[in-house]
Amino acid sequence: MNDAQKQLKPLFDIILNSDSPGEIRQTLHTLHDVYSACSGVSAGNITDKDIFTPGGQAISPIKAAHCLLEIQRTAKLVRGINQALLELKERFKGEKLNILYAGCGPYATLLTPLTCYFSAEEVSFIMMDISEDALAAVDRMYTSLGLSPYIKRITLADACTHILPENERIHMAVSETMNTALYKEPQVMIMKNLIPQLPEGAVFIPQEISVSMQLTDPALELASYSVAGMVPERIWLGELYRIGRDHLPDDSPVHIEIPEEPGQFRQVNLFTEIRAYGTEVLTTNECSLTMPKRIGYSEDYKGKKLSVSYISGTNPRFEFTPAEADA
Ligand SMILES: C[S@@+](CC[C@H](N)C(=O)[O-])C[C@H]1O[C@@H](n2cnc3c(N)ncnc32)[C@H](O)[C@@H]1O
Repeated sequence: MNDAQKQLKPLFDIILNSDSPGEIRQTLHTLHDVYSACSGVSAGNITDKDIFTPGGQAISPIKAAHCLLEIQRTAKLVRGINQALLELKERFKGEKLNILYAGCGPYATLLTPLTCYFSAEEVSFIMMDISEDALAAVDRMYTSLGLSPYIKRITLADACTHILPENERIHMAVSETMNTALYKEPQVMIMKNLIPQLPEGAVFIPQEISVSMQLTDPALELASYSVAGMVPERIWLGELYRIGRDHLPDDSPVHIEIPEEPGQFRQVNLFTEIRAYGTEVLTTNECSLTMPKRIGYSEDYKGKKLSVSYISGTNPRFEFTPAEADA
């Protein structure tokens, strides 16, 4: 380990092991000070622009820098990647593990901590982003921290359409390019492009993402914020979508029935769950990506049958139409 790694390791130990959200929060802010000084991009006022791609919105480098500070998102994804790498080391004994980071942003937030637990002889990173500025920043940061030996290459590309070189074995692909309930950003298109290109035994992080539709009572939801461990009662209407390494959906519509008398469960919400890997799961309200997304009021839908389709493209979203319209 070089001197920078020796200084950073106690911080990474906290991200990997601490049970205290407060401690992780403080650590992420300390890391942000280091990363922003080295990369030249800080999580401040948003003065740069998103890129609009055929697969959805790629958030700007400053917005991507902000993602570092999402406590549970960052901790659970880093822990999941660590778990998966330990398994991959066993599965591919003696091989150097090539990790494709599609949408690495300015800090390569989800991989950088792993440099203190795996050597540059054990793992190598392919940094990919659609933003030239993000790639320039991560290059500056890795040079400044003496981590360049981890970088196999830096590739400016759209991960929704990029074809991986045939002569390069990828053991893991990582991409967190999503928004709540898989709206707006290109996560689904990136998974559908990259996963089929991965060889047998390779891992994709997140391992699985699912979106369900549920009716909620706003008063119970509010109460749950102030009562530790309280899971408010909700009415489960069904799973709308599930995507992962072992399950690429064909996007055929799902049918959902809204009860005639929803009573106090006045809101129609989408809920997102993200399995980073193995036991590391981001559940409701643990980060911005898993907050319920309100799509309407039960009053407007009661007694109706809906056909729900996921629409990929420039504006990824779910579309809801009366089920009869399918006939
Ligand atoms: C939500 S940020 C995540 C940053 C960082 N990986 C993290 O987890 O903190 C998403 C990043 O993915 C990049 N991105 C979005 N769509 C992309 C695409 N189609 N191809 C390549 N990169 C993309 C954005 O430019 C941005 O840097």
